[in-house]
Amino acid sequence: MADSNQQHPNSDYDLNAPIPGDAPGLRQGLTSYGDAHFSLFLRKVFIKALGYSEDALSRPIIGIVNTYSSFNPCHANIPQLIEATKRGIQLSGGLAIDFPTISLHESFASPTSMFLRNLMSMDTEEMVRAQPCDAVVLIGGCDKTTPAQLMGGISANKPIVHLVTGPMMPGSHRGVRLGACTDCRNNWASFRAGTMDVEDISAINDELAPTAGTCGVMGTASTMACILVALGMMPIKGATAPAVSSARLRIAEDTGKLAVQAAATKLAPQQVLTRESFLNAITVLQAIGGSTNAVVHLLAIIGRHPEVAGTINLDTFDEIGRRTPLLVDLKPSGDNYMTDFHNSDGMLALLHELKPLLYLDTRTVSGKTLGEEIASAPRIPVPRNSPVNCLHPLDEPLYPASSLVVLKGNLAPGGAVMKASASKDRRLLQHKGKAVVFANSADLAQRIDDPALEVDEDSILVLQNIGPVGNPGMPEAGLIPIPRKLAEQGVQDMLRLSDGRMSGTAGGTIVLHISPESADPESVLGIVKTGDAIECDVEERILQLCVPEEVIRRRIETRKAEPKAIGKAAQEHTRGYRGLYMRSVNQANQGADFGFLTAAGP
Ligand code: FES
Repeated sequence: MADSNQQHPNSDYDLNAPIPGDAPGLRQGLTSYGDAHFSLFLRKVFIKALGYSEDALSRPIIGIVNTYSSFNPCHANIPQLIEATKRGIQLSGGLAIDFPTISLHESFASPTSMFLRNLMSMDTEEMVRAQPCDAVVLIGGCDKTTPAQLMGGISANKPIVHLVTGPMMPGSHRGVRLGACTDCRNNWASFRAGTMDVEDISAINDELAPTAGTCGVMGTASTMACILVALGMMPIKGATAPAVSSARLRIAEDTGKLAVQAAATKLAPQQVLTRESFLNAITVLQAIGGSTNAVVHLLAIIGRHPEVAGTINLDTFDEIGRRTPLLVDLKPSGDNYMTDFHNSDGMLALLHELKPLLYLDTRTVSGKTLGEEIASAPRIPVPRNSPVNCLHPLDEPLYPASSLVVLKGNLAPGGAVMKASASKDRRLLQHKGKAVVFANSADLAQRIDDPALEVDEDSILVLQNIGPVGNPGMPEAGLIPIPRKLAEQGVQDMLRLSDGRMSGTAGGTIVLHISPESADPESVLGIVKTGDAIECDVEERILQLCVPEEVIRRRIETRKAEPKAIGKAAQEHTRGYRGLYMRSVNQANQGADFGFLTAAGP
């Protein structure tokens, strides 16, 4: 028998050579058997069952996170993207290995995809950490997937590069372009109001999502894609190319190459991302009229970064908004679709316009600064008067500033968010009216269309208990429908308030994310009653319940004395992930993350 300590040409069999904790490739993160060399030996036994050679196994290992699911049409092109990403990795000398994580689609996750975002972030973090990858390509797209991946990626802190699936193409009906999901809501509202017949709404149902890809407007998916570029976590051209385009496949190939580079430089997200990176992301969010959901996601992402957490809060979003104009004319704030933004030279053109407002020396995953990336990308400017150009110059904006505003007052001491640029009735941006209160989603569903409901166009619709704890997952129920009897009279917008969220594709004068939420014993939102006066002044950033302070205090004390009002018992005794969620989720103004997942920890 050979001496077990003899030299072997392959150093993996050198029992005298320790395997360092930060070893690359297959040698990293070994499974614990108490004998590191045996762990490596065994790992190679099993991976060779897949047919890999020693040569292949000696290359940098680039993981590809596969979030394909037959329940997720926004991710339907992932098999092609994986193939193209692998090509890029192998052209650059890496070994590509794809592995699955959770996939979330907005319409197929009950009670809401947001309920599962933190679970997906845990899945991403742990699988990226657990498996021997030198860098990872995170393929996502649908609303909650990219935030979950970045949250998990920052916490795992291995080199990562994002690749999004890309937006879907628009459809059309009777010569009018359509796209999910702004037009889903507009057309459904017309049907509800009786101004559209069943044949038209049924035909439109076929056309709203005509291809694979993410929603084709500036909804949450598109917003997060643009934010990933601003953060430097994705190539500039990666945000807007349609899901079904050949450009999308070339972007995937380039992303594979970039990931091999990231494995060599070892640039992990906690090194790439700084406070200034996030300020750039917020500037882009305001300039694109992005989704209110992105505010919650960015706060959660920031909370994962040990050096940035606590340096940016809701007020930062408002401050940046005051100096950032809306430049991109896309639904729901404007008229166009993501394909138009792509044809307007997409994020490259936008970043050129925004240069005076950006920190250009922030890092990107390529190792270059954002300024260097902008300068080095080939640009083909689109004439301003071209019919496909939906990008406004900085000095001729679509909306002067503050597309997203943060409101505060006794009704929202922790803040609330409104997409002011998507208001359909601008007189409501400064409005005082009487509240019509719904205790929860079920109460809303039961009474909103009741002909006897006492409501007029100046009423303020208030929906309680759809916050992170009150209705676990903080559903996108903040777009409270216009009561049918008012819709039939032509009312298209009303001031609406809640502690929930709203789809990024939706519009209206809607106040969201009120913190603390009504399920909190101290919440003022939780004690608003029908008939109370409420004042909202967007210019002054005020959201106020116009009820004497002593009455507010008395109502809060009375409510706290009611044992079942707050649902504490439900929080403590609910089993499984739902129980974990209810006990651990923080408020919307902290990102609705689990406290124990934040950089600060439990
Ligand atoms: Fe997936 Fe809209 S449903 S992006």
